[in-house]
Amino acid sequence: MPMSEDRTDGPVVSAARRMPPAFYNTITFLGGGVAGVAVGMILLLLGWEYLSQTHSPYMGVIAFVVLPGIMILGLLVATFGVARQLRRRHLGLPATEKLPRVDLNNPAHLRATILIGIGTVVFLMATGFGSFQAYEYTESDEFCGTMCHTVMKPEYTAFQVSPHARVGCVKCHIGPGAEWFVRSKLSGAYQVYSVLFNKYSKPIETPIRNLRPSRDTCEQCHWPAHFLGEKMVQHDYFAPDEENTHWRLQLLMKTGGGGAGLTSPHGIHWHVAEDVTIRYVSTDERRMEIPWVSYTDGAGNVKIFRSTEADADSVALAGHEVRVMDCIDCHNRPTHHYNPPARLVNQALAANRISADLPDVKSLLVDLMTTEYETEGEALAAIDQGITAFYRKKHPVKAGIMVAEIAEASATAQELFKTNIFPEMHVDWRGFPDHIGHLTTPGCFRCHDGLHETEDGEVISHDCRLCHDIVSQEVKTGEVFESLAGVEYKHPEDIDEEWKTTNCSDCHGG
Ligand code: HEC
Ligand code: HEC
Ligand code: HEC
Ligand code: HEC
Ligand code: HEC
Ligand code: HEC
Repeated sequence: MPMSEDRTDGPVVSAARRMPPAFYNTITFLGGGVAGVAVGMILLLLGWEYLSQTHSPYMGVIAFVVLPGIMILGLLVATFGVARQLRRRHLGLPATEKLPRVDLNNPAHLRATILIGIGTVVFLMATGFGSFQAYEYTESDEFCGTMCHTVMKPEYTAFQVSPHARVGCVKCHIGPGAEWFVRSKLSGAYQVYSVLFNKYSKPIETPIRNLRPSRDTCEQCHWPAHFLGEKMVQHDYFAPDEENTHWRLQLLMKTGGGGAGLTSPHGIHWHVAEDVTIRYVSTDERRMEIPWVSYTDGAGNVKIFRSTEADADSVALAGHEVRVMDCIDCHNRPTHHYNPPARLVNQALAANRISADLPDVKSLLVDLMTTEYETEGEALAAIDQGITAFYRKKHPVKAGIMVAEIAEASATAQELFKTNIFPEMHVDWRGFPDHIGHLTTPGCFRCHDGLHETEDGEVISHDCRLCHDIVSQEVKTGEVFESLAGVEYKHPEDIDEEWKTTNCSDCHGG
């Protein structure tokens, strides 16, 4: 503050002043001005947002987060100005209250006062409304999914094509209650910082260390005690040969559940039944290596299973977290599914979105989608060129007849790539394995590999009928084996009995 201001001769008392003299100082005036301008801008943006048809997430952040922040800052500065004057007076220092005189008999002054009065009322209403909107806005999928566009693109894109597309991000990531709301806003503030200063990791690390226990979130909608009955799952396969040989497999999944009413816990959801507690220790960040598992029943009896392959003595395990198994130890990808190309292409062929009449199309598309690219643009171009060039060169006659089929195969492959593989963020099935199943990643076989034993020799079962019955199995020749009681698995490639002893993912994981 310049010296000259400090030399003002005491408070200037005027009949026109309606507010305590301490309000009339430069700091308060400036603070109030800033707050006023912020409000004006919020109103302007709100009007624009209301009138325009398109909604930009950045506009929301400015109108509901940044500007209210500036406004509050202005108000704090203004308050500081008042406090400073009061303190000066208290200490007997000369006051520096000095502003243009306001005379309500003067029509110009009167008009200004009325305007400021109305402004204040609108301002207060807008603040209340604004903070509510800010709250709502930071809870919206739009905010979570698109605010940091490249960062959240994989999660948001996969979410939009998943069964949970209409379940908000916050339902799983925050859930009900004030405690996790506050925690999420605090960690959210850090995330905004890390994005602004480019400090986030690519890809975003998974599993999320401080994810809210899924029993609190998933169980708002899914109650495991009631997962009764079994679920039929059909898989269609197409071989990587010229004919894209097709066969089917139907698995009756023993989804299970129970504990409510007259049912006792059974089947796959037995792990999360009321009287069951499974704890485990994993020795890696990703929870892929699980050398130690314990099962505590309702009576408190404990069984401990140790892997005979891994180092599972207490020294090796010391220092690793003991985790209580919950939903996401199996459903780690309930909505952000990043599927492997072979599975995607199989599904698209089965749905006739890719014509199986195109020779070698299965292996061609899997190869093109498995190649590593730098950017999405590069990948999409390579997929399109790869398909066109392949048929022109290898099957020139067919390329002439099947123009529409080739174009559709290319469009479908590009679409599948865009929703499952994200080169810029290094996100795909390789780094984000899905624990449901055991084909391309260890999944259930992290524990159910037949190698986890108690001291008495009890084993966590590897029996092919523990989790599903194969009720129908076709083989490549077209022959079908069916039985509601379940048939034995026939591996599509002759690998002797290898599949009974070696984990599927040891061969299929690459
Ligand atoms: C059905 C519940 C559910 C919904 C809805 C959901 N998520 Fe997730 N999300 C999860 C689970 C479970 C994980 C993985 C947790 C783990 O493995 O630790 C996860 C992981 C993530 C990760 C970490 C990276 C990764 O892929 O593992 C990010 C980032 C994320 N979610 C963002 C979002 C955004 C943004 C939305 C909304 C557009 C959203 N999520 C909606 C359940 C959900
Ligand atoms: C706000 C409600 C809600 C929450 C919270 C929620 N879900 Fe769901 N879930 C749904 C709805 C709706 C569906 C779709 C039902 C359908 O397709 O029949 C669904 C479907 C599913 C399915 C079947 C998906 C499929 O591929 O068929 C699984 C598995 C699932 N949810 C697991 C979870 C897990 C794990 C969590 C917690 C991380 C969770 N859900 C949280 C509502 C919810
Ligand atoms: C031991 C692993 C495991 C755990 C733990 C687990 N699930 Fe599942 N869940 C499965 C499997 C496997 C399926 C069948 C999926 C399939 O084949 O499509 C399934 C199916 C489901 C389905 C779909 C049911 C249907 O009929 O479509 C829902 C919903 C679900 N689980 C929710 C949950 C919730 C909520 C929890 C936590 C309370 C949970 N699961 C814990 C493995 C598990
Ligand atoms: C963290 C280790 C772990 C993982 C991962 C795991 N399980 Fe289990 N599971 C167990 C243990 C321990 C038992 C009980 C073994 C015993 O007492 O004989 C069990 C038992 C079962 C049972 C028999 C339940 C009953 O009715 O008694 C089924 C079915 C099952 N698991 C399915 C699955 C499926 C499907 C997956 C993968 C989606 C899976 N499990 C993943 C540890 C695990
Ligand atoms: C601990 C439980 C469990 C055991 C034991 C188990 N499976 Fe599975 N299996 C699953 C689950 C879960 C899936 C995923 C179902 C789905 O795709 O929805 C699956 C999927 C499959 C598939 C389809 C794979 C795909 O993605 O195309 C085949 C084939 C299969 N199992 C065969 C076997 C054979 C053979 C054995 C015995 C060596 C076996 N399973 C043992 C739980 C189990
Ligand atoms: C010793 C290595 C090996 C083991 C172990 C193995 N497979 Fe395979 N599998 C192969 C080969 C080789 C092929 C043929 C090439 C191909 O299609 O990937 C194949 C093909 C398949 C296919 C068809 C191709 C596809 O992915 O669409 C399925 C399904 C399959 N195996 C399931 C299983 C299951 C389930 C297990 C575990 C119970 C298993 N395999 C264990 C080597 C193996």
